[in-house]
Amino acid sequence: MPDAITVEGVAKSFGAVTALIDISLRLGQGECLGLIGDNGAGKSTLIKILSGFHRPDRGRILVYGEEASMRSVDDARSLGIDTVYQDLALVPTLSVAHNMFLNREVTRGIGPFRWLDNREMRRRARSYIEAIGIRTLRSVSSEVAMLSGGQRQAIAIARSVHTGAKILLLDEPLAAMGAMEGEMILDLIRDLKAEGHSMIVVAHNYVHVLEICDRVNLLQHGRITLDRLSSETSAEELTELVAREYRRLRDTTSSAGSVAGEENGPETPHAAEERPGL
Ligand SMILES: Nc1ncnc2c1ncn2[C@@H]1O[C@H](COP(=O)(O)OP(=O)(O)OP(=O)(O)O)[C@@H](O)[C@H]1O
Ligand SMILES: [Mg+2]
Repeated sequence: MPDAITVEGVAKSFGAVTALIDISLRLGQGECLGLIGDNGAGKSTLIKILSGFHRPDRGRILVYGEEASMRSVDDARSLGIDTVYQDLALVPTLSVAHNMFLNREVTRGIGPFRWLDNREMRRRARSYIEAIGIRTLRSVSSEVAMLSGGQRQAIAIARSVHTGAKILLLDEPLAAMGAMEGEMILDLIRDLKAEGHSMIVVAHNYVHVLEICDRVNLLQHGRITLDRLSSETSAEELTELVAREYRRLRDTTSSAGSVAGEENGPETPHAAEERPGL
């Protein structure tokens, strides 16, 4: 059985900023992969490449074993990949129901005589929201601008789930959540996995990641520096790995007398290895 996604040697820069240097990773079918790493490590950039939003400068992406050259988010969607972005793609001035069906509006009528079926969109939106367990939302006719960050996040997830996508990329789905809503999203991710979805979940909370993901990859300085089964690592080990990297960077910086990353960008730690005397 081919992997849902295989990434080989992907690189991405934004002008002078190198976000990803050389990324290779795999997401098995039905697997939940946790992607962790510090702020600015490149997690969202990688997610945006896999969702067709950015194009990599280098490297290959295979979807179910076939090379995919995704030029747009629609290309990725047609391959069954849907994404919940960290910076949410909801339109604040539209209602919850209209956001749910953005670019996939339900219409009635035939040929040129078509109109939006608002009642049907509201009905389906209500059932989707109930199905994922959001209880704090008063009406699907509310403008998204009136909702809290957590409610918006939950709606974005509900929307992705109902696109029929088998591969879901969730970029910090828990970030804006209160404790109760966070648990709700964790349950939802477990359900999606049980239904056979393949998922990449970006999160900062290692305990949550290890709880819901089968495997975890650590992204540091534009590379994957750790690929471990969740059952073979712990939140303590992951915290220690990241802290150790921070200390190494801090010590290199203070002894080199310059700001880490200015000269060597994300490669600073490797550059430090080549200067053992420092
Ligand atoms: N569109 C862009 N234009 C220029 N630079 C960008 C762009 N997107 C990301 N970057 C840069 O690329 C690097 C990686 O950013 P990215 O958003 O992928 O990090 P992240 O791992 O998702 O961080 P966080 O945990 O804070 O969300 C950062 O240095 C960021 O400033
Ligand atoms: Mg991010």
